[in-house]
Amino acid sequence: MNNDTNVTWHEHRVSRDMREAKNNHKGCVIWFTGLSGSGKSTIANTLDHMLHQSNIQTVVLDGDNVRHGLNAGPGMLQDTHGEEFAKRFGLGFSAIDREENIRRIGAVAEIFTQTGVIALTAFISPYRIDRDKVRNTLKQGDFIEIFVDTPIEVCEQRDPKGLYKKARAGEITGFTGIDDPYEKPLNPELVLSAAEKTPDMLAAEIIGFLKNNNYIRG
Ligand SMILES: Nc1ncnc2c1ncn2[C@@H]1O[C@H](COP(=O)(O)OP(=O)(O)O)[C@@H](O)[C@H]1O
Ligand SMILES: [Mg+2]
Repeated sequence: MNNDTNVTWHEHRVSRDMREAKNNHKGCVIWFTGLSGSGKSTIANTLDHMLHQSNIQTVVLDGDNVRHGLNAGPGMLQDTHGEEFAKRFGLGFSAIDREENIRRIGAVAEIFTQTGVIALTAFISPYRIDRDKVRNTLKQGDFIEIFVDTPIEVCEQRDPKGLYKKARAGEITGFTGIDDPYEKPLNPELVLSAAEKTPDMLAAEIIGFLKNNNYIRG
């Protein structure tokens, strides 16, 4: 028998309702998805700042930062944990590694949601099935998917990390939008025309959504 079937759930004494009542707002996940350079990190940080100013409990989980810790790559784990460990648990950018990256983020974001916190996640999360799996692990209404809809031409022109240039030159492979797919959400809660507006305008748009849908008070 698998030992993991003997692991049971423990009910906690401080409920989510109690935490949300104390915070005076609901917990949820605001899941940004979009191409590299589309503006996910910028919008998440702008929104985070605005919500923080309004006494709302937030956390930002950002792609690159998470890949330094929770979801470190094999190269980062090699020296501290050895070759076998790095090979087994280090996450790269293959489809299955991206799937596990997103699954772990989803699990962490859920913990924050249960704690009455608004978790903002900024990952390319290119595969629809992986995002939908996170959506399905959460309670109805807890997952707010926001498509940061910036045309690839704009992303490529911005290219703040020079990644598109490297991908075009064949120096990086499996780059989303170039030689790896990006699957747009079919029914996101919000689509941001992010190339045409400032980050402040876009964050304000999201705050409007949160108020209209009673996540935060108006
Ligand atoms: N709404 C916007 N208008 C103009 N430039 C933006 C906007 N949002 C982001 N940027 C710029 O685009 C670049 C990529 O943004 P970033 O947030 O890092 O994208 P991502 O996290 O999706 O990869 C940055 O240089 C940022 O300053
Ligand atoms: Mg980013």
